[in-house]
Amino acid sequence: MAPSVASTLQSHKTWLGVATVTVFGLLVLSSNGGTRVDYHEEALLKRGSLAGGLHPARPPPFVGTFKRRQETEVCSTDACKSFADSVIKSRALNYTGIDPCTDFATYTCGNWWDTHDYRDDQSSVGTLSVMSDVNTAIMRAILESPYSDNSTFTGDDLEADKEIFDKMIAAYDSCMDTDTIDALGAKPLQDLFAKYEEESSDFDLKTTDGLTNALIWLLKYGGSGIISAQTWADDKNPNITTIGLGNGAFGMDSKEYYNDTESVANYTVAIVGMFDILFGEEKHDTHASLAKELIDLETALIYATPDPSKAGDVEYYYNVQNLTQVDASIPEISVSKYLKAFVPSNYTLSTAIVLTPEYFPAISPIIANASAETLDAYIKWVLIQNWVTRLSNDANAPYRRFQNELTGKDPEAIGERWTTCLADVDANLPWIESAFFVQVAFSPEAKIFGDRIISDIEDIFMEKLQGYEWMSASVKTKAIQKVLNMVEKIGYPDKSPNVTDPVALSNLYAPLAISNTSYFDNGLAYVNFSTTNSWKALLHPTDKDIWFMTTPTVNAYFNPPSNEIAFPAGIMQQPLFNLDLPEYVSYGAFGAVAGHELTHSFDNSGSHYDENGAYTDWWDNSTLANFEKKTSCFVDQYSKYSIVGPTGESLNVNGELTLGENIADGGGLNAAFAAWKKVDAEKPNPGLTGLEEYTTEQLFYLSFGGVWCGKGRPAELVRRIRVDPHSPMPVRILGTVANQQGFKEAFNCPVKEPTCELW
Ligand SMILES: *[C@@H]1O[C@H](CO)[C@@H](O)[C@H](O)[C@H]1NC(C)=O
Ligand SMILES: *[C@@H]1O[C@H](CO)[C@@H](O)[C@H](O)[C@H]1NC(C)=O
Ligand SMILES: *[C@@H]1O[C@H](CO)[C@@H](O)[C@H](O)[C@H]1NC(C)=O
Ligand SMILES: *[C@@H]1O[C@H](CO)[C@@H](O)[C@H](O)[C@H]1NC(C)=O
Ligand SMILES: *[C@@H]1O[C@H](CO)[C@@H](O)[C@H](O)[C@H]1NC(C)=O
Ligand SMILES: *[C@@H]1O[C@H](CO)[C@@H](O)[C@H](O)[C@H]1NC(C)=O
Ligand SMILES: *[C@@H]1O[C@H](CO)[C@@H](O)[C@H](O)[C@H]1NC(C)=O
Ligand SMILES: *[C@@H]1O[C@H](CO)[C@@H](O)[C@H](O)[C@H]1NC(C)=O
Ligand SMILES: *[C@@H]1O[C@H](CO)[C@@H](O)[C@H](O)[C@H]1NC(C)=O
Ligand SMILES: *[C@@H]1O[C@H](CO)[C@@H](O)[C@H](O)[C@H]1NC(C)=O
Ligand SMILES: *[C@@H]1O[C@H](CO)[C@@H](O)[C@H](O)[C@H]1NC(C)=O
Ligand SMILES: *[C@@H]1O[C@H](CO)[C@@H](O)[C@H](O)[C@H]1NC(C)=O
Ligand SMILES: [Zn+2]
Repeated sequence: MAPSVASTLQSHKTWLGVATVTVFGLLVLSSNGGTRVDYHEEALLKRGSLAGGLHPARPPPFVGTFKRRQETEVCSTDACKSFADSVIKSRALNYTGIDPCTDFATYTCGNWWDTHDYRDDQSSVGTLSVMSDVNTAIMRAILESPYSDNSTFTGDDLEADKEIFDKMIAAYDSCMDTDTIDALGAKPLQDLFAKYEEESSDFDLKTTDGLTNALIWLLKYGGSGIISAQTWADDKNPNITTIGLGNGAFGMDSKEYYNDTESVANYTVAIVGMFDILFGEEKHDTHASLAKELIDLETALIYATPDPSKAGDVEYYYNVQNLTQVDASIPEISVSKYLKAFVPSNYTLSTAIVLTPEYFPAISPIIANASAETLDAYIKWVLIQNWVTRLSNDANAPYRRFQNELTGKDPEAIGERWTTCLADVDANLPWIESAFFVQVAFSPEAKIFGDRIISDIEDIFMEKLQGYEWMSASVKTKAIQKVLNMVEKIGYPDKSPNVTDPVALSNLYAPLAISNTSYFDNGLAYVNFSTTNSWKALLHPTDKDIWFMTTPTVNAYFNPPSNEIAFPAGIMQQPLFNLDLPEYVSYGAFGAVAGHELTHSFDNSGSHYDENGAYTDWWDNSTLANFEKKTSCFVDQYSKYSIVGPTGESLNVNGELTLGENIADGGGLNAAFAAWKKVDAEKPNPGLTGLEEYTTEQLFYLSFGGVWCGKGRPAELVRRIRVDPHSPMPVRILGTVANQQGFKEAFNCPVKEPTCELW
């Protein structure tokens, strides 16, 4: 796939995360598809069938005691009824026999799991993916309708708005035009290879110059081969944008796959299949031996990469080297020449941050030992992976099949075309798409309510900071200043770019020519546009007004060097966020998300950045020692949770890899609860009709649990255990509530002490 907003993300950002694919130094959000069926329609349908047929045996009553509601007031508006209904439909049918203290995940989501199924093209499904389906349906309607006359723009603004709309539609139409795409088959990529061959006299891969030339050519077409280079806010001096160097991309997500016979066999079939299609089936035997060699090469390379848990370890990855040093660490490639091909001509190239310090020296002998044929096959394969999705479904079948196998889908599964095309617009015209989405899906009232929740949570967080006995006074003072300095981005970008200003967007995208007939050529244009822009960033102070997610995205992030948290309009939707419901609903769900991102600024990675976003040593030794004692509790706690893989094998959560996310989940919910209690104390929230058995505290936690109702196909669960810094969805419920005193009191659990607690 072509570089996108997501692929320019830096690994030192942490995500609330649906699914993330992490290659060290490069964090890519997997794109999510969608259908038009929204949450309520789907759930209603299932409920109908349940009421018609199934009569589950009545379980024995739960013997624990619940605190009964004191207040009699309940909310019975349509909004409240509908929310209560969704809680009931998610909850296990036999919930009365389930102890919330020990299994709040099943308690909250038992029936959700039973009544939600994967689409063929989905490897996981959850509350957030259902929300995303709603957002994609909104975007699809915009993309498949004429320009709306409802716009309030006039004059130049109106002209510009129409122009960017047309650009977006051309991009979408070129992708939807499967007649043209099918007629071309593999030809557009074969033409690109013809170009590669034309220039290959410069690509003597066994010389430093030749290999470097080939890698430069590859990066111009979006491929990170062997190494990667990207622009990057300097962690210690975040006002400056510098260069980050790391390993290249790999065809399989993690080391374990390269040591698994069946995965390697499937991968081999994909490579040979694509080579046969592109370079001729008559060379099948050669392709088979090339595939083996290139997989051996990739295996050696990936085993030289750091463990994924190092991605958030600034101490590990922050290695400033001058280019003489970098070049000396891997003499087979001239990294300085590679970079000179991309940095602006008036940029003074002197140093870079080497994110993978052991990788460069380790791969030098591997590259030296590889034959020219193997390197050539490897480079071609990287290029294929970048462009294959722009070919016809026939021409990319072996690759698609393999991606499906990796994530546990039916090998032949294929998403509806529009989901691919919407994802393409999202990745490549992110701010035009964002502009049209917020026009219909975000209100000024939502922004005000979101602001309030976030600032309530920040206030609580600072109050709590005051009270920690394990922190020294000086660390506390700085920590509070850090919260005071936190930049909150809510809804949509209004500066860089200003998505409410069509003229600004028209100017931004002016250099990008889009045709409505050539999906492949549009891809080439995007790569050139985004590559050029990303290297230009070196000439200016770090732009702290940019966003790393588009507005329909159901996600959120904390970005340490900018000391900022961001919440796209896409996540400020129901069931997480709703102005018409008692506040515990939005505080328990969206508030926990906001608290999660804020807490990231004090997790094992974020805590290293000071109140100005600079990576510094601002923790004294004894406070740090206390901090580390507390974090090691989380590592032990989460390492005990497990998932079940495709062959029934049990696989434990990696407590180190997921540490930062688990800390954020715990602190986020803790702060959200305290913030809501304060709001509730001023004006008590009513209960919910149909759920009178619950206190409002319990409803708060049910709202939280509902966020993480979800499940994944077994192969996908295994993949995420290996690469995803987030715990599996049910574990995000179980582990988080185990760490909440508020929860244990609300449900009158026998042990009130949190299992682990930090913030
Ligand atoms: C609840 O129902 C599920 C089946 O839907 C069953 O597996 C489980 O054992 C039941 N739990 C209790 C406590 O009855
Ligand atoms: C435009 O306005 C019409 C009528 O007021 C409404 O039905 C339609 O949904 C609006 N379209 C958009 C995109 O807002
Ligand atoms: C970084 O830039 C901000 C805003 O321009 C400025 O306030 C701050 O002092 C700068 N920090 C450093 C370390 O130069
Ligand atoms: C590969 O897997 C085998 C067991 O299947 C294991 O013994 C070996 O250590 C693994 N190799 C590496 C490099 O991880
Ligand atoms: C390999 O491919 C086969 C056939 O598509 C599939 O059934 C199997 O699950 C795949 N194995 C792995 C480990 O991906
Ligand atoms: C690069 O760093 C090395 C090691 O610190 C040093 O010896 C050398 O002089 C530096 N080269 C330049 C051009 O700065
Ligand atoms: C670098 O060159 C670009 C155009 O090539 C120009 O716009 C920019 O102002 C120059 N920057 C510096 C710092 O000289
Ligand atoms: C060198 O390459 C050969 C064949 O490609 C391979 O068998 C051997 O293991 C490699 N040696 C090293 C040190 O990588
Ligand atoms: C964004 O653009 C709109 C419309 O031109 C303008 O009203 C608004 O002030 C701009 N926002 C910022 C922060 O400049
Ligand atoms: C491309 O745009 C032209 C002019 O608007 C239109 O006539 C044509 O049908 C479009 N082609 C496709 C494939 O959408
Ligand atoms: C973008 O395209 C222009 C014009 O073809 C070319 O000169 C430039 O090198 C390309 N830039 C990149 C980064 O590919
Ligand atoms: C803090 O710990 C570091 C590393 O263990 C040590 O080098 C340093 O001297 C300690 N500082 C103080 C003030 O004790
Ligand atoms: Zn997170």
